[in-house]
Amino acid sequence: MDKIKIIGGKPLFGKVYISGAKNTALPIICASLLTEEPVTVKNIPFLSDIKSLNNLLLQIGSQIEEKTEELNGHLTRTITYHTPQATSLVAPYDYVRKMRASYYVLGPLLARYGHVELSLPGGCAIGARPMDIHLSSLEQMGANIEIKNGYVVADIKGRLQGAHISFHSASVGATCNILMAAALAEGTTVIENAAKEPEIADLIDILNKMGAHIEGANTSTLTINGVEKLHGITHTIINDRIEAGSYAVAAAITKGRLELINANAEYLQTPLSILRKMGVKIEMTDSGFIVDAQNCTLQGHDVYTDYYPGFPTDLQAQFMALMCVSEGAAMITESIWENRFMHVPELMRMGANINVHGHASAIVRGVKKLSGAPVMSTDLRASFALILAGLAAEGETVVNRVYHLDRGYETLEEKFKAVGADIERIKESD
Ligand code: EPZ
Repeated sequence: MDKIKIIGGKPLFGKVYISGAKNTALPIICASLLTEEPVTVKNIPFLSDIKSLNNLLLQIGSQIEEKTEELNGHLTRTITYHTPQATSLVAPYDYVRKMRASYYVLGPLLARYGHVELSLPGGCAIGARPMDIHLSSLEQMGANIEIKNGYVVADIKGRLQGAHISFHSASVGATCNILMAAALAEGTTVIENAAKEPEIADLIDILNKMGAHIEGANTSTLTINGVEKLHGITHTIINDRIEAGSYAVAAAITKGRLELINANAEYLQTPLSILRKMGVKIEMTDSGFIVDAQNCTLQGHDVYTDYYPGFPTDLQAQFMALMCVSEGAAMITESIWENRFMHVPELMRMGANINVHGHASAIVRGVKKLSGAPVMSTDLRASFALILAGLAAEGETVVNRVYHLDRGYETLEEKFKAVGADIERIKESD
């Protein structure tokens, strides 16, 4: 397994190009299964999660063609997905185990073909990650669902039927799956307490361009008037707000100044307001925003993760790393996932002062300096938090198990090197 070695203590200066959003690309790729016509998606990031999902679509029978293109000043990927007729309606364990967002094939395959078999993803490092909302919603739409040998087997005779559905949690994944299923259902589906993340609005945008009738984007009530057929289109996905927020913290934690090109500050209002309160300057530009922490004395600030537009759980670990080297105390509360503090023991190995209370809260008391150490990645965002801590620490940090990072941060070392970080990947064979 590759490792990343960092010699910390260098402020970062320059430009970082923010890539297309992983968590938008994943459902949008699966939306292509809803039509027999080609769907071209631009701005897809080069990530192992995308590769895993593409492999699943290939086994379902999709044809995939990709090319590299320049978009807004940097190289991006454009991929055309074409599924005239699925040759398999099974998402096998080996695919879903590698990448749980494989469950986005559930809604589209059931809606278009009336049958799907999906290996249940099970829990992961950050929590139990249930799928009850996805499944009970499809049942309300008339699907017959059974769990057999670790698989969800879903069937519907004829078309799914529109239904009035109320989610008990504003689940991103269930909102995407039910939007896709309802797009081809008969009649009107209303989703109450839907997720409002920008990724959902982008999915609604592409579905409507494909011929769906969906109203209520950016609100918690979505109304979908089902249609019989959808058609092919070309769509450019939005940029990754979590990647942008992660590099914003890189500027702050190294007391540097980074211009985040193609970043959308509107999607990051809560995290950016916390950075401002901590003393960091944020300046809007025509193509993104600048994060300037030169000569700044960082002041710790509380963080409470919540559904959008609240503070994103996917930036909690990165902000915790920042609080470790900020003055005073900060209370970090994780309200979305039940086990998302696994970076804490690793940060403490680098000299951080953190007390975890139960599963949901941690008090971080700022220290003057972290010191480099070998550390272990546990999940995607925790891994980035350890990179951040390594960039701020004195001496050498080696982050092990970096395959987590390859799932969600495009060309991470190149982006960091370009702004002055002393960072290198140690290949397994080195
Ligand atoms: C998405 O996961 C993201 N993944 C996650 O990002 C992110 O942390 C999460 O949304 C929250 O923002 C992708 O988009 C691929 P949820 P998802 O369903 O859709 C409960 C990353 O690092 N729930 O919104 O799986 C659940 O337990 C990843 O990129 C149910 O109870 O999350 C949680 O408490 C990690 N029943 C809450 O809802 C269900 O059926 C939110 O989960 C579904 C969810």
